[in-house]
Amino acid sequence: MLYSPMGMRFREAMRSKSALPPQCVTSLVQKAVELQRIPPLLIGPYTLRRPIILAPMAGVSEAPFREIILHMGAGLAPTELVSAKGLLYKNARTESYLRHNAEAEPLLVVQIFGGEASSMAVAAERAVEAGAKMVDINMGCPVKKVTRTGAGSALMTDPQRAAAIVSAMRERVSVPITAKIRSGWDKEHQNALEVGRALEEAGVAAIAIHPRTRQQGYSGSADWSMIKALVDTVQIPVIANGDIFTVADANRVVRETGCHGIMVGRGALGNPWIIEQLAAAYDGRPLPAPPVGARRAYMILHHLEAHIAHHGHELRALKKFRQHLIWYSRGMRDGHAFRERVMVHESRTAVEEEIKRFFGGVQVQNFSESPIYDERTALG
Ligand SMILES: Cc1cc2nc3c(=O)[nH]c(=O)nc-3n(C[C@H](O)[C@H](O)[C@H](O)COP(=O)(O)O)c2cc1C
Repeated sequence: MLYSPMGMRFREAMRSKSALPPQCVTSLVQKAVELQRIPPLLIGPYTLRRPIILAPMAGVSEAPFREIILHMGAGLAPTELVSAKGLLYKNARTESYLRHNAEAEPLLVVQIFGGEASSMAVAAERAVEAGAKMVDINMGCPVKKVTRTGAGSALMTDPQRAAAIVSAMRERVSVPITAKIRSGWDKEHQNALEVGRALEEAGVAAIAIHPRTRQQGYSGSADWSMIKALVDTVQIPVIANGDIFTVADANRVVRETGCHGIMVGRGALGNPWIIEQLAAAYDGRPLPAPPVGARRAYMILHHLEAHIAHHGHELRALKKFRQHLIWYSRGMRDGHAFRERVMVHESRTAVEEEIKRFFGGVQVQNFSESPIYDERTALG
């Protein structure tokens, strides 16, 4: 059971509708036909609670955030990318990425990156020893420090090496191996289908695809037609990722691609409630409005408390939490002034007071005005 720092049970805080203006509850009801049509998602021996997955995000997908996302109803929430070499050499910092509460995360997915089959296999074994029930291979990271070692999106340029990595991992561990790929290295080399076939043959249990090239980084828009092409090419589940910010986006990606699951990254930054909405849409329930006032404050305080407990060192944790506060306060009236105030605090009490005052006292703009909450508007 999760508890809020203010003594209120987290679950109760999440359920309580008392702080919600009534128009918020009814204005967000939306048809979710396509999402509801996705059959149960099977990955290896596991059937996910829902085919809704948090994208692995470095610096974000830490245990406290993953737990919140799972609590909101996601089927999976993988770790951020973890270095295979770091696991191999038992680097303390690398191993800290594997820390989790097995009760809260019964289906831990650890994403690892590396370019060599042998070290990736040993790293997979270490991840499994630490509690991973699935291991995901990062084949999308565009960062030079990663790609120049042959890892991340560099693996897209060498499907045979990627397949050899899968085979080596499968020889060493029996948990399902999945992969997260991009559409290719650059515009001229968009080989996701070739890579998908090679990975399937080597035995991956599912593939998530972010259909942008390495060259694109995060610019332009995700080419969902590539997701459909991959769905049509392989027999294993394909998880659609890229530019899913709303329930409407999720319905559209399912309709346009026939994907077997959806993965949300930036849409969940400062807005874990997108997962709650997607879960409701998938279940055929009315969409809950993102909370305002006290409920929003409780949730953020809970996140802060869990974040500090996870990191141990209070000041370091507070500094790291600032990015979440930036995201949580985006699109909110007086958000800028709040961010300026909260960024300088170095005491937990002062930060908590700011959160209570700001999130507990102000209303989120636009929620009650627009029929569908659109994170892109809020971010803009
Ligand atoms: C802050 C941040 C960190 C990321 N870290 C990772 C990572 O560790 N592993 C990975 O496979 N992708 C990583 N990504 C990429 C996301 O998983 C996802 O593919 C990408 O953001 C597109 O999805 P979106 O449009 O829903 O955000 C990261 C993205 C962001 C924004």
